Amino acid sequence: MDTTIKRYGIIGFPLKHSFSPYIHNRAFGDLGIKAVYEKIEIEPGKFEARIAELKSGNYSGFNVTIPYKERILHFIDQIDPYAKAIGAVNTIECRHGRWTGYNTDWSGFLKPIETDLDSIEKCLILGAGGAARAAAFALLKVKKIEFLWIANRTVQRAEKLVETLKQHRMIEFRISGLNEAAECGISFDLIVNTTSVGMSGQKDELIIDPQPISKPETIVYDLIYNPLKTPLLQAAAKLNLKALNGLPMLIFQAEEAFKIWTGRRFNQNTINHLFDKLPELIG
Ligand code: ATR
Repeated sequence: MDTTIKRYGIIGFPLKHSFSPYIHNRAFGDLGIKAVYEKIEIEPGKFEARIAELKSGNYSGFNVTIPYKERILHFIDQIDPYAKAIGAVNTIECRHGRWTGYNTDWSGFLKPIETDLDSIEKCLILGAGGAARAAAFALLKVKKIEFLWIANRTVQRAEKLVETLKQHRMIEFRISGLNEAAECGISFDLIVNTTSVGMSGQKDELIIDPQPISKPETIVYDLIYNPLKTPLLQAAAKLNLKALNGLPMLIFQAEEAFKIWTGRRFNQNTINHLFDKLPELIG
């Protein structure tokens, strides 16, 4: 292999439906950067051995996705403070065999709502898994936020998340199951779905009815991008609420990783192309 070509890859399992190679290879091409980005699918039983091989390989960086964003922490030499707080790494920069771990999900999450942040005070997060952790830590960065409700099927998991959030910033928190949040009667500024409910291949389920917990300015943000219009986003659109899917977050978390590796942003052509083409590829 031409050693002037830098190698990047995404570590996960399964990776059949990952769009990251498409995104990064397009961006490398558009900017004339000599680099390739490939899928590195690792079966769970072979994880440690494969990571050891990759560590002595000639990669310049990786993305890490489901189910390894936490397991990879044991193999990182240095960790960025946000990735540490979130407890998950989705981006690795490799330099002279040393791996630095970052998390770009939180900034990718914020970017699509950046112009709305000044009006966000009361938020509801549905879910308490890895995506919820990134979203919750991102929301702690929002200046005006004063109230964050985390509702999860397994309430204990939401409790654990709030325990760590409290160590970072003290605002008003609430924890509950999904039904209690649905009936709370509060008008949230932002409702975020981080669960997999509504994802393609699952039952066509509405995670929560936004009607009783919204006002005309409420933003409904579903981190799912397949399908592009989940039952939650369809319900939000019917109420004329601002409805945002997970596609911009997918693109912007990739751009943040790209910036860590190359020092460069995606150019506007790349961004336009991705917003046109990915919906077609998602189908
Ligand atoms: P991710 O890293 O994508 O967040 P995860 O850590 O497995 O994935 O978290 C998945 C989230 O979706 C969790 O909040 C999970 O709820 P539990 O903690 O109770 O498992 C939620 N979830 C998944 N399937 C669900 C369902 N059918 N109904 C409600 N919540 C569900």
